[in-house]
Amino acid sequence: MRIGFIGVGRRMTGHIKRIQAMVDCEIVAFCDVAPEAAEARVAQFGGAAFTDARSMLEAARPDAVLMGLPPFAHGTAEAACIEAEVPFWMEKPVHLDIDQAREFAARVATKGIVTSVGYQERYLDIVERLETELASRNAGIAFGYWMGGSPAGWWVRKEKSGGQPVEQTTHVFDLARHLFGPARRIYAAGVTGIIPPDGVRNIEDASAATVEFASGVVAVISSACYLQVGQNVPAGLDVFCRDANLHYQRRHSLTLTTAGGSTTWSSHNDSEQDMLVDFLAAVRGGDPSRVRCSYAQGVEALELSLAVNRALETRRVVDLPL
Ligand SMILES: NC(=O)c1ccc[n+]([C@@H]2O[C@H](COP(=O)([O-])OP(=O)(O)OC[C@H]3O[C@@H](n4cnc5c(N)ncnc54)[C@H](O)[C@@H]3O)[C@@H](O)[C@H]2O)c1
Repeated sequence: MRIGFIGVGRRMTGHIKRIQAMVDCEIVAFCDVAPEAAEARVAQFGGAAFTDARSMLEAARPDAVLMGLPPFAHGTAEAACIEAEVPFWMEKPVHLDIDQAREFAARVATKGIVTSVGYQERYLDIVERLETELASRNAGIAFGYWMGGSPAGWWVRKEKSGGQPVEQTTHVFDLARHLFGPARRIYAAGVTGIIPPDGVRNIEDASAATVEFASGVVAVISSACYLQVGQNVPAGLDVFCRDANLHYQRRHSLTLTTAGGSTTWSSHNDSEQDMLVDFLAAVRGGDPSRVRCSYAQGVEALELSLAVNRALETRRVVDLPL
């Protein structure tokens, strides 16, 4: 299978190496608006370098594309893939503009294009266990959180990253959406001023969003990016049921506590590898339903994160759908 890459920054190194190691894959092209970024990948992994997605699709004719674009750069590459009917896997978040994302989702569905979004949580063995445990239990309240530090660059500008709930805690919002179904209402409060102003940063240092799901579950999902210490257990989701508590520590472990005691499962599978293998199998079989997070499902996660931003901006309750 001929594979092309669009947007080849920090995140994509691991994915490029995974594809390189797959016997039935051939890397044919790298595309990046920074020519030196694409050329450096070509020097290391082969293929041809491009700065324009459409030109890459026409010249290199990939069977599938992997995109590692920053949140603000979405649009042109997806439009080119959809027009050429080339299957694509992409990093989250899928966009910052919900209307264009929905338009892309509709066109993907009409054309039956295989897509996949990098919400790797969905491929974890312990998340499968979490789903199984919740299937027979009555969940009421959940606490989700992503507590960490703050990267530099585009990450600290809201119009570029969307802010932490959109760029990072989106994994927790997606997991909650995956487990509890569609949400109907969100309200949120933000914290600023903990990190001293530097004239660049314009995102919240922290926020807490209350999400009411149509299923009746209420989740409080918090984000913090001002921490300098204490990041050894940075993110997770705790779900409180009538007869059990479930404590999911991001990509690490799941603990179930019932009246009979506690059981902890550690994660053993490589969810990022499984996610890519599944996407390629879906492409080979022409079966969009084979992946665990399609573009349309990525749009659902995006909607929750963008609703948090709207609630932060307006200080009002936000009804869904947006
Ligand atoms: N799933 C995860 O666990 C995880 C982890 C880290 C990052 N990510 C996501 O990966 C994405 C990329 O993050 P990163 O850290 O690699 O960013 P980065 O800034 O290191 O790399 C982005 C690359 O895209 C290029 N680019 C920008 N606009 C482009 C365009 N229009 N066309 C082609 N190339 C373009 C840039 O020149 C750069 O080389 C982000 O959406 C981020 O949220 C996901």
